[in-house]
Amino acid sequence: MFYGGDYNPEQWPEEVWKEDVALMRRAGVNLVTVGVFSWARLEPSPGVYDFTWLDTVMDLLHEGGVQVDLATPTASPPPWFSLLHPDALPVTVEGTRLTHGSRDTYCVSAPPYRQASMSIARALAERYHAHPALAMWHVHNEYGTRCHCDHVAAAFRQWLETRYGALEALNEAWTTAFWSQGYSAWEQVTPPRATQYLPNPSQALDFRRFLSDELLGHFTAQRDLLKSFTPHLPVTTNFVFGDWVPVNHHRWAREVDVVAIDHYPSGPGTTAVEEGAFAADLARSWAGGRPWLLMEQAAGVVYTGARMAAKREGETIRHSMQHVARGAEGVLFFQWRASRGGAEQWHAGMVPHAGPSSRLFGEICELGALLSDTEADTEADGEVAAEVALLWDAEAWWALGSPGLPSLELDYLDALRQAHRVLYHHGHTADFAAPSADLSRYRAVLVPSLYLLSDADAANLARYVEAGGTLVVSFFSGVADEHARVRLGGYPGALRDVLGVRVEELRPLDAPVSLTHGLTGTLWSEVVHLEGATAVAAYPDGAPAITRRRGAFYLSTRLDDAGYAWVLRQAGLAMPDSPVELVRRGDTVFAINHTDLPHTVAGPGGGPLRLEPGQVRLYPAQTSR
Ligand code: GLA
Repeated sequence: MFYGGDYNPEQWPEEVWKEDVALMRRAGVNLVTVGVFSWARLEPSPGVYDFTWLDTVMDLLHEGGVQVDLATPTASPPPWFSLLHPDALPVTVEGTRLTHGSRDTYCVSAPPYRQASMSIARALAERYHAHPALAMWHVHNEYGTRCHCDHVAAAFRQWLETRYGALEALNEAWTTAFWSQGYSAWEQVTPPRATQYLPNPSQALDFRRFLSDELLGHFTAQRDLLKSFTPHLPVTTNFVFGDWVPVNHHRWAREVDVVAIDHYPSGPGTTAVEEGAFAADLARSWAGGRPWLLMEQAAGVVYTGARMAAKREGETIRHSMQHVARGAEGVLFFQWRASRGGAEQWHAGMVPHAGPSSRLFGEICELGALLSDTEADTEADGEVAAEVALLWDAEAWWALGSPGLPSLELDYLDALRQAHRVLYHHGHTADFAAPSADLSRYRAVLVPSLYLLSDADAANLARYVEAGGTLVVSFFSGVADEHARVRLGGYPGALRDVLGVRVEELRPLDAPVSLTHGLTGTLWSEVVHLEGATAVAAYPDGAPAITRRRGAFYLSTRLDDAGYAWVLRQAGLAMPDSPVELVRRGDTVFAINHTDLPHTVAGPGGGPLRLEPGQVRLYPAQTSR
């Protein structure tokens, strides 16, 4: 069980380093990520390296029993690099070339940046491949930067040629007949750039797919280089999650030895807990049975956008244990010591500005002890039990973000979060599965607003239902193909047969409507014809709103959480209210009481087990279920 955080000793004088290691020992820290942003310190001028400080840090950490996840610093090239290679600075969609002064100012397709990245990675590998503190490589930081310059245009064209072969196929896939956009030579094709009115959605989608592959190429080049020095050591990179991130993490997960996620909830309290469970389930699903880590989180604080909100007593511990319950092999923070200056001087640290004599550092030590006890409990080291899957597809998410859709209020993430949240509050741990995955092990599969769906994936869902599976599909799923072109003949296109419905019209709502069975629909409605399905609930005019054909349910409107839970009950899932987070990992149940009230759960032997407000307990599973 790894425990630690990003350690940035370059921000501090050497005297502090010894104290750092002593405090790490006190807290039970055993892994730190070093050097993520230290390129300027490591290579103060082109080709001139200074490793003396890092030698000292690596040795000190090793003496203190702390292992190192050594980072390549390529997410923040030094100012000399930008001045030497202005063509490697990123260009925005509007055509503005950015400059240094923050981080992530590089173009991943620019040859000088690629070369410089490889050189600094090689220099680090040559220097530290045999250092006893080295336990893992951490390439880059939070891949997700984009650029629209000419280097990118050239790489994008190459990617498109590989994908489509002939220009005619691209014209067809992008429907360039619309608005006279037909391309007659590859040179005419560009990345999306500022233009007069609505851009082409298929071009935007392919650009995101391209960026994901292009960034991946930067990662795998460094990974392979590092592996050539240390074939036995894992290589990872920290995944960041957000609609601005053009990275298909599900695909990337195959390329890392250890999936690592950063997780910063958007709100305190229940929101943080729901989002934590969501992020952890997603990471575990990406990892697909392999180890994964919570690589970054904030100690003691939630950033809400407008302001930071203090985590309540014990919350830092509970949020961490949530991830462990859901399969994490370790929890780390950004960062070890809160910075004194710089852009993130107000970002939390495990050692806060107040220093180690603080409630927060006390909790950090308590968490370290709890994690080492959890590690000792070998029963807790197994698979996480999940009976339900949510379909997850980054490309469908990206496509649903296009302008020009029937409603700008469609929100893939919101739809997924709702489905996950409802399961969470009714005692279900969920996996996320790709639409092409083997779904046979799941009791039910939920499909929230999966706009894009290929024929092959639609056939996969039909097979699942055929074999007796329960499928719950929400509105505006399956309506477009993989090029974001509408499927004709009626919605929901690829899923019409399996659902037994044909939707003739889409009618986004501006006010809630009352459905039968006391349900309320918001956001969206449709004119649904039954073609083999029966109605489960109806609109005020008696037209079908929710339908069922064998195990396949269709929701043509957005229900509130209680309504969604009602549908899942109709679909045969047990949906007990579950005020305590209960997750089974291996032969252990993790029970986490995030609330201010005591709760009683079925403990070992089935007998009652009381959880005090805020309490975390682990107990053997065999006897509790
Ligand atoms: C990300 C980055 C860190 C830091 C934190 C702050 O996760 O990887 O370097 O900026 O955000 O929230």
